[in-house]
Amino acid sequence: MRLVLLGAPGAGKGTQAKKLIEKYRIPQISTGDILRKAVADGTPLGKEAKVIMDKGELVPDKIVLGLVEERVKQNDCKNGYILDGFPRNTAQAEALDKMLNDLRMPLNSALSVDVPKDDLMKRLTGRRTCKSCQQMYNIYYSPAKKDGVCDKCGGELFQRGDDKEATIKRRLHVYDAQTAPLINYYKERGILKTVKGIGSIDEIFKNVCTILESKK
Ligand code: AP5
Repeated sequence: MRLVLLGAPGAGKGTQAKKLIEKYRIPQISTGDILRKAVADGTPLGKEAKVIMDKGELVPDKIVLGLVEERVKQNDCKNGYILDGFPRNTAQAEALDKMLNDLRMPLNSALSVDVPKDDLMKRLTGRRTCKSCQQMYNIYYSPAKKDGVCDKCGGELFQRGDDKEATIKRRLHVYDAQTAPLINYYKERGILKTVKGIGSIDEIFKNVCTILESKK
């Protein structure tokens, strides 16, 4: 399965991707996670990306495309992968199509996770992530048992630098302007699927699996 997860910031792409990788045993390729790791490692790319990410803007296509191309060619992607947060605009989508056509491994589906705008701000301001195992929590919807401590591994929970209200507003604007048009892009190519991203995480996951496994 070669899948693109589409959806606004906070729609739950990362949350559903974590469950999909367990069920289908294929890797999640999150350009956001790759970039955050480069930022944390203090690499030259990370330093350049940090300034852009803190503003809620998109990192230049050339950088992101290079990262994805290198990643999809790795051995663990042979049986498929989940692209989370990529592509982010039409230029990235076209470059991805070309890259995958050259490899003779086109996408199977693009799944759009649909969440009303009003829910997104609370999901993002409330998000907390474990520094050690990346488990995600939400102080409003799914808090850790002990404040600031991961239930799973005891690691420290942190808030992402771009989950501040002003940056979130910018990210939502950038999504509307640059990423939302990809819904039509994939619809026109006949591979778009859509799931409602409200309700419990497990309920949504059940629907995601049904939709992905349906032949239609
Ligand atoms: P990225 O890391 O991709 O962030 P994003 O797209 O803004 O998406 P998020 O990770 O914020 O949200 P999500 O949909 O994964 O939601 P999650 O599952 O975490 O990108 C960050 C930045 O990197 C970009 O702004 C850009 O600068 C750069 N970048 C990345 N890719 C790029 C690219 N291709 N090109 C250029 N630049 C790029 O859930 C959110 C919260 O909601 C969590 O707390 C979770 O617990 C909670 N939640 C999830 N599901 C539910 C539910 N059903 N009910 C209640 N709460 C829920």
